[in-house]
Amino acid sequence: MFHIATLVLLTLTVICGIDGRVWFSRDGICVASAPCTCDNAEILCSGLQLRSIPTFIPRDVSNDSLAGWPMSAAFFQMYSNNIEVIDDRAFCNLTFALSSKVFMMLASNAISSLADNAFDCIQNNVHYLDLKNNRLTALPVAMLKLTNLKELFLQNNALVRLNPLVMKQLGPTLTNLQLDLGRFSTWPSEFSHLRVLYFLEANNITFPNIPEDGFFWVFFVT
Ligand SMILES: *[C@@H]1O[C@H](CO)[C@@H](O)[C@H](O)[C@H]1NC(C)=O
Ligand SMILES: *[C@@H]1O[C@H](CO)[C@@H](O)[C@H](O)[C@H]1NC(C)=O
Ligand SMILES: *[C@@H]1O[C@H](CO)[C@@H](O)[C@H](O)[C@H]1NC(C)=O
Repeated sequence: MFHIATLVLLTLTVICGIDGRVWFSRDGICVASAPCTCDNAEILCSGLQLRSIPTFIPRDVSNDSLAGWPMSAAFFQMYSNNIEVIDDRAFCNLTFALSSKVFMMLASNAISSLADNAFDCIQNNVHYLDLKNNRLTALPVAMLKLTNLKELFLQNNALVRLNPLVMKQLGPTLTNLQLDLGRFSTWPSEFSHLRVLYFLEANNITFPNIPEDGFFWVFFVT
């Protein structure tokens, strides 16, 4: 009997704990505009035929003690829409603690450009950026501000060049890079900026030679 009571108490604690962790809702209202919904640490907007990023209700989540414990990871599920551009300061109504990691899922949209200040206010939080299946031809200048980007996915974008300044900026933090080099005629020398990379997937290579000093990490080329 004692054990059952303990179990019930534990279960209640866990359920309340999860309820308390509804980071993106305030008074039961999702901070992202409809038709997006919020669930714990996720903003759910995938497959909703959106043409732009939702707007957000200002919410200060920088005071971690308000929610009980630090928000370690925030997920923006915005894949499979028709988003074409991301405007300046699109995420500035949300405030994150420095320790919060933002995972930005933007795959399978129609993104051809990001405003130069698109990542302002979350520039130190974005750790994971998935832009697979979009319409980028170059690395957006907006990436120049990202100070903690670890993983970047760009497959199925018709990239024609890699902005050297962006590669230099991402170099100290980027560990995983996946992209298509179908439009390149030589191995991009900008890869040499990636000092901590441990996984590279470079697809659709048509040029014959990869220079011996073109990389110094373990890599995977298809
Ligand atoms: C930010 O919040 C203000 C005030 O609620 C709102 O008018 C604006 O549209 C929001 N902007 C974004 C980009 O979410
Ligand atoms: C953070 O939240 C706690 C608990 O509600 C409160 O006591 C404290 O004053 C808040 N700090 C700031 C800077 O808002
Ligand atoms: C890369 O190759 C795949 C499969 O062959 C193809 O579907 C895709 O369009 C190619 N991407 C580019 C950017 O050329």
